[in-house]
Amino acid sequence: MRRACVIGWPIEHSRSPLIHGYWLRRYGIDGAYDRQPVRPDNAGEFLRTLAMRSLVGCNVTVPHKEVAFRVADEKDKSAVAVGAANTVWLDGGRLCCANTDTYGYMTHLTLRAPNWKKRDAPVSILGAGGAARAIIYGFLSAGVAKVRVFNRTRERAEALAKHFGPAVEVADWSDRSTLSKDAAVIVNTTTIGMKDEGTLDIDFTGFHPDCVVSDIVYVPLETGFMAAAREQGLTVVDGLGMLLHQAVPGFERWFGVRPEVTEELQAILIDDIGGRV
Ligand code: ATR
Repeated sequence: MRRACVIGWPIEHSRSPLIHGYWLRRYGIDGAYDRQPVRPDNAGEFLRTLAMRSLVGCNVTVPHKEVAFRVADEKDKSAVAVGAANTVWLDGGRLCCANTDTYGYMTHLTLRAPNWKKRDAPVSILGAGGAARAIIYGFLSAGVAKVRVFNRTRERAEALAKHFGPAVEVADWSDRSTLSKDAAVIVNTTTIGMKDEGTLDIDFTGFHPDCVVSDIVYVPLETGFMAAAREQGLTVVDGLGMLLHQAVPGFERWFGVRPEVTEELQAILIDDIGGRV
């Protein structure tokens, strides 16, 4: 039996077992995927001893993503761009890592809003953490010429601009509405909107009618940010799709089948989110 898991600290709220468990059943694979709590001081050792633990690989979540990147022997382009990894696997004894958040985000965006790139316009990113990094890398790889980053703490946005070069510009957090009116896509990568974490306060009046509004928060499934955009008639993309699609490459590496993100899987997750909010 092939075994994988998700490691983090804490880990009990991870929804990854729900996703991989569904695919294991759907494809009739003799495999297992569970949650493993791993303390921060133990993550490097855990990852270096996957084979001894009878694991073919794992997902890595907070706070272990940077350690996973550091200890891996091979790193994919997105992991290098982000400096963090969320998926690891063994290849001939070598520890390989990837950051599949970029793939997950861009795949879902393109499925839900296939015309997001129709206009040659800037992309607005709200937030400057690890998720913002993965998403900015996705837009730059897709050929977007200008990305504007708005972050409460300006220095973090500046660090991103320095990392990615002149295509990434820093703007003031207070200008997030006014400077995004011409945007092709505006993405919330902050935690604002999650459960009781406040609101983003974006005024969508005067936004270009083709602007795509995307959130990576998925609890609740429709955030206040998304609801306000929908009221203005804008195309809205939810955050759950990124979670579902980022899981695809890992499953394929570990279990040898490229799995499908089905309506049924989406319904299972929505049900779970509904039950826990
Ligand atoms: P991740 O790695 O998952 O992206 P993170 O590194 O903790 O998470 O980043 C969280 C983001 O949400 C940051 O951009 C953070 O802004 P700061 O850099 O100023 O901390 C943003 N964020 C969280 N709460 C916020 C709030 N109340 N107002 C504005 N931004 C907030």
